[in-house]
Amino acid sequence: MSVAHIEIKSTGVYVPEKVLTNIELEKMVDTSDEWITSRTGISTRRIAVDGEATSDLAYKAGLVALEKAGMTPDELELIIVATITPDMFFPSTGCIVQDKLGAKNAVAMDINAACSGYIFSLAIGSRFLETGTYKNALIIGAEKLSCITDWKDRNTCVLFGDGAGAAIITPSNGEGKLLAFDLGSDGSYGDLLYLPGGGSRNPASKETVENRLHYIKMDGNPVFKIAVNKMMATFKKSLKAAGLKPDDISVLITHQANLRIIEALRSFLKLPKEKVFVNIEKYGNTSAASIGIALHEACEKKIIKRGDIIGLAAFGGGLTWGSAIIQY
Ligand SMILES: CC(C)(COP(=O)(O)OP(=O)(O)OC[C@H]1O[C@@H](n2cnc3c(N)ncnc32)[C@H](O)[C@@H]1OP(=O)(O)O)[C@@H](O)C(=O)NCCC(=O)NCCS
Repeated sequence: MSVAHIEIKSTGVYVPEKVLTNIELEKMVDTSDEWITSRTGISTRRIAVDGEATSDLAYKAGLVALEKAGMTPDELELIIVATITPDMFFPSTGCIVQDKLGAKNAVAMDINAACSGYIFSLAIGSRFLETGTYKNALIIGAEKLSCITDWKDRNTCVLFGDGAGAAIITPSNGEGKLLAFDLGSDGSYGDLLYLPGGGSRNPASKETVENRLHYIKMDGNPVFKIAVNKMMATFKKSLKAAGLKPDDISVLITHQANLRIIEALRSFLKLPKEKVFVNIEKYGNTSAASIGIALHEACEKKIIKRGDIIGLAAFGGGLTWGSAIIQY
């Protein structure tokens, strides 16, 4: 069976209850609410409790998406979890989520594209559906970034948060369509944003712990500049592939990393503020989860309605980037 169009049937979200404010961060590192808000747009972020793993967040977001789609777990055929904070090296977080859901008939996997993970999952899942290999997919971006955040490093610890955003995608019978997507990566930028410890290069040891190698390392300035350029370029490519102009976009949702990066893309596309959905102030940067969380919130708030043209754009560690244009 070959299928022409893929739609987002439903979305789901889960964020942990615990809120960490900028004021609380002032007591942890040498920073200020004023610096964080003016440089990033972030006011609060959610933090998972001890013992709560990425799969727990992903499972809860997946349940919401399933319920909204009116589907049972055993109907699921494909589960893709995008994460850089898996529960463990293996089994994949996708397999753990499959088990939690009781989705016995699905095949499950993880992908690692850092903050671009949601768009990568959407693209990969859609291709499986278009070829007729599977009839539906649950894609989830989920992160417990708090466990790889160096709470002594003010350059990074103010940025990140935990959460999960999910979507069920299916072949489309109506107006919903994935109109275009574009993905990209450049491994030569890998050392701008990475986590050095714990893998086969630097297996976990007393030294890796003492040298704080199990935390995110980031060179923020170049990441900022490359992010803006690559997001603009990828979004232009998706617009062209969809045969659309920036003006045709009803709502733009970008990865929520820094309000100034989002603003740069908005002004490049000459979009009015009301066409760009932003929730970075509440959740900070939740990596692969951020677009899924924002998409769900924008749908729940009726900012996005069926038939609207939605633009998605992201960038992240790798470096990776990607964009998609969806008729919702
Ligand atoms: C990290 C980021 C917010 C820093 O903002 P910036 O405007 O570039 O700030 P700079 O790095 O130039 O630092 C400016 C000063 O603020 C200081 N600073 C950094 N973090 C601080 C904090 N939390 N509180 C107070 N001061 C801070 C720096 O030490 C520096 O001080 P100096 O001038 O005395 O050396 C910004 O570079 C960024 O968002 N980069 C992209 C990050 C990103 O998106 N990462 C995820 C990719 S998915």
